[in-house]
Amino acid sequence: MTNRSLFDRALDATVALSFDRTGFARHARGFDPADLDVDLRGRVAAVTGANSGLGFATAAGLARRGAQVHMLCRNEERGEIARKQLVEQTGGDLRLSVVDVSDRDSVARFCADPGISRLDILVHNAGALLAEREGTADGLEVTLATHVVGPLRLTLGLLPKLVDGPEGRPARIVWVSSGGMYPKRLSVDRLAATSGPFDGVAVYADCKRAQVVLSELLAERLDPRVVTSNAMHPGWAATPGVASSLPRFHAVTRRILRSPEEGADTVLWLAACARIGGQTGRFWFDRRAVSTHLLPGTREGAEERGRLWEQTLAWAGLPWPA
Ligand SMILES: NC(=O)c1ccc[n+]([C@@H]2O[C@H](COP(=O)([O-])OP(=O)(O)OC[C@H]3O[C@@H](n4cnc5c(N)ncnc54)[C@H](OP(=O)(O)O)[C@@H]3O)[C@@H](O)[C@H]2O)c1
Repeated sequence: MTNRSLFDRALDATVALSFDRTGFARHARGFDPADLDVDLRGRVAAVTGANSGLGFATAAGLARRGAQVHMLCRNEERGEIARKQLVEQTGGDLRLSVVDVSDRDSVARFCADPGISRLDILVHNAGALLAEREGTADGLEVTLATHVVGPLRLTLGLLPKLVDGPEGRPARIVWVSSGGMYPKRLSVDRLAATSGPFDGVAVYADCKRAQVVLSELLAERLDPRVVTSNAMHPGWAATPGVASSLPRFHAVTRRILRSPEEGADTVLWLAACARIGGQTGRFWFDRRAVSTHLLPGTREGAEERGRLWEQTLAWAGLPWPA
């Protein structure tokens, strides 16, 4: 171990000096620029929540490299404004689909869209931190439906289209989780709670932990030669979502936040970098596989993992294909 890596480790252990923009700059010194010097022409990508923040930056990065990008946005007006901006900025092939990830029927409609016959990249980016409990038409809490159940529905519905590419290149699923999940131990009971006091930050963190486990569970079940599944966290990035849902955090940290492009860098890297195509079931931060546990007592057992899988399928109302 070099002094440099000891120094890096010490700074990373502070969390703030790792998740912030100085952390990105320090980590980026180890990046290989060739990793994102890729030609994505002929590839088809879908990015949820692509009209804002990290989703917008991810869609831009994919389109700039030649991918056809389907922007899955819940609001048609916001989606179309973003699509036009992206076309202007990138000259790429960007298409808007109005999809509310938390809504069962909306997801089902997108999955059945005959306009998309194949998908190479699926980015589960849409996210929201709610101040008050809200429910979906099918009775799920909205944070759970947006981060956990909706993405599984989307994955299952699109699975027949997520196929290996012409050169035997697997399709890729990327989950945008959060470092906010680190203090949480997976709890299906907490995810399932439908009453009692609502703490939006705690519910969000529980769902972000569930995303990481769900990505691993999917990876265990998918043939990695055909589809891979990886999760990541972006650190702290200045996005409209952070400004509106965490105003005090934003006020204190705004000078040290990453740009949306820096926050989205590892999303794009996982979606596009050729040499990491075979990686699956791992958790990434700044292009490095990292542990999903930093604190004692957060490791879930096999039984809880199994419960998450079964319960999420039950909430989704869909079977795992035999
Ligand atoms: N920024 C950070 O520092 C940070 C840190 C950790 C994790 N993350 C994660 O990064 C992802 C992107 O967040 P962001 O910071 O870029 O926030 P953002 O600017 O608020 O973007 C979130 C996007 O998700 C969309 N969305 C929310 N609920 C949706 C639904 N039900 N269906 C479809 N789209 C939906 C939003 O649409 P509207 O515009 O219509 O609301 C928006 O386009 C989230 O998963 C978030 O949890 C961000």
